[in-house]
Amino acid sequence: MAQALGVSRASICNAAKSMAASHLSIDRVRGRGYRLNRPFEWLDRDAVMALTGKAGRFDIEIRDSVDSTNSALLRENGPHGKVLAAEMQTMGRGRMGRSWLSEPGGSLTFSLAWKFDRGAGFLSGLSLAVGIALARAMASCGIAGIRLKWPNDALYQFQKVAGILIEVKGDMLGPTLAVIGIGINFRLSGALRENIDQAVTGIDAIPGESPGRNRLLAAILAELSGILETFEEKGFDAFRNEWNDLHACHMKQAKLKLPSGKTEEGRVVGVSEKGEILIESSRGRLAFASGEVSLRGIS
Ligand code: ATP
Ligand code: BTN
Repeated sequence: MAQALGVSRASICNAAKSMAASHLSIDRVRGRGYRLNRPFEWLDRDAVMALTGKAGRFDIEIRDSVDSTNSALLRENGPHGKVLAAEMQTMGRGRMGRSWLSEPGGSLTFSLAWKFDRGAGFLSGLSLAVGIALARAMASCGIAGIRLKWPNDALYQFQKVAGILIEVKGDMLGPTLAVIGIGINFRLSGALRENIDQAVTGIDAIPGESPGRNRLLAAILAELSGILETFEEKGFDAFRNEWNDLHACHMKQAKLKLPSGKTEEGRVVGVSEKGEILIESSRGRLAFASGEVSLRGIS
């Protein structure tokens, strides 16, 4: 390996050590070299571009490692249409300061920067519309049974398989730069699962053939292309029925955790034209925007 790469044996040895530190499991055979214990398909810009059919709308970049693809696009102000995917995130983020955990090759983590002429208020239902892009893309790749959980998760049999984090930058009245971050599990090691405090799964554990990360990324971008256009024109209302049909918690009893620390209990009866969750409670029908509200205790 040292010869082929034109580096010293010590460099190869150090690289192998840092791979182990990144949770990459490698086999070593004395005198012969190293290989990944479970080989995976690397992210490949050209493959994704060729597969999307919408290549012109997106500028795709793949980085080996970044703190968070959302943080990077926010720092770099997009630009509009930029897609940043990373083999590894060292500080992947979820909502409200929570962490998104992943290991190299085990997940698809990427963000898309998209400029909207309108202000941040208009974008309140965007994470729900992006959820539809995820569900449609997964279905088009043969992954059946994906449902959505308000406001930003994709589930398979009530286990979280993907999450969406949208962060916006700009004036309240617009224009706004939205950074749309998506994390999708393909395979989860035992060590990773132990650090996640909820039921989780990955695409490789769902029956059927795994589409591979490049194909799924291309399919999501193709769906997002149309969905973002419609969203800009018509807002979330255009997706409301489809979203309600995909909601894993539709008509179920649930608790809503509010920013005040209080909870509100009731039956989930759908989402509004703005993407708020609608709950039928003892106090009547109530609507909550995603803000810092969490849906819990589904039964
Ligand atoms: P909410 O209903 O408020 O959105 P949530 O638990 O889905 O609740 P998020 O902020 O959306 O919270 O996502 C972050 C959470 O996702 C983490 O606290 C952790 O429980 C979970 N998590 C972290 N990494 C992964 C992963 N790779 N796969 C699935 N879930 C993960
Ligand atoms: C959630 O469930 O709260 C959302 C998780 C979003 C994770 C993705 S991974 C790519 C992008 N970069 C981040 O730091 N977060 C999002």
